[in-house]
Amino acid sequence: MRLIRAKDYQDASRKVANIISAQVILKPDCVLGLATGSSPLGAYSQLIKWCERGDVDFSKTKTVNLDEYVGLSADHDQSYSYFMHHNFFDHINIDPSNTNLPNGLEMDDAKECARYDKVIRDLGGVDLQLLGIGANGHIGFNEPTVEFVTGTHRVDLTASTIAANSRFFENESMVPRQAYTMGMLDIMQARRVVMIATGANKAQAVYDAFCGPVTPQMPASIMQLHPDFVLVADEAALSLVGDKL
Ligand code: GLP
Repeated sequence: MRLIRAKDYQDASRKVANIISAQVILKPDCVLGLATGSSPLGAYSQLIKWCERGDVDFSKTKTVNLDEYVGLSADHDQSYSYFMHHNFFDHINIDPSNTNLPNGLEMDDAKECARYDKVIRDLGGVDLQLLGIGANGHIGFNEPTVEFVTGTHRVDLTASTIAANSRFFENESMVPRQAYTMGMLDIMQARRVVMIATGANKAQAVYDAFCGPVTPQMPASIMQLHPDFVLVADEAALSLVGDKL
């Protein structure tokens, strides 16, 4: 793995935006794997500015998102589909038909998971996957568990993830209890993976994921095995790592 040290959130966001824009400039019809949460927001705003200036062109780019809440429609204001449109897609020159997310309203999980894995396969896999990291080490919605799950699957969110994500909802009882998420093989098969981790509340997860053993109890730790994994982290997120990486 490669570690890129950033000063703070803004610096980390610009570095990640630079990596993504380089990918799109080098391969305009690339497949970007995208993430939600607060971590990628700064990178998305930077990319929007560069796109408006004509520095980066998303007209041929395709995207697949990591995850979606089960039970929320694409236009629900807390769905990840809404998040992506509101914070990124609606402000860049991407063709909306080239963007993909799991369908949170499909209750037949076998059908939806097979459909989504086929979407990823038919696109030829992901060129660059962007990841955040949950405070408990989850990536996408691959929660700490006893085994890594390979493909897209439906997960029960852990109490800590429900509590962490409740800040976006009116109250904790409104947070969906389940989500669809890409699996670990989907993520590991991306040709490059870039994780952004910032803030002191990620320091323990970053330490455990990258200075400890590879284990499904700490899902992000599997990235230690990826051949082209880049961690962009700020000083606060690296406070426990020190110079161990
Ligand atoms: C969510 C998402 C993840 C994200 C994580 C961290 O639950 N499913 O993809 O990485 O939480 O979110 P944040 O960046 O807001 O800390």
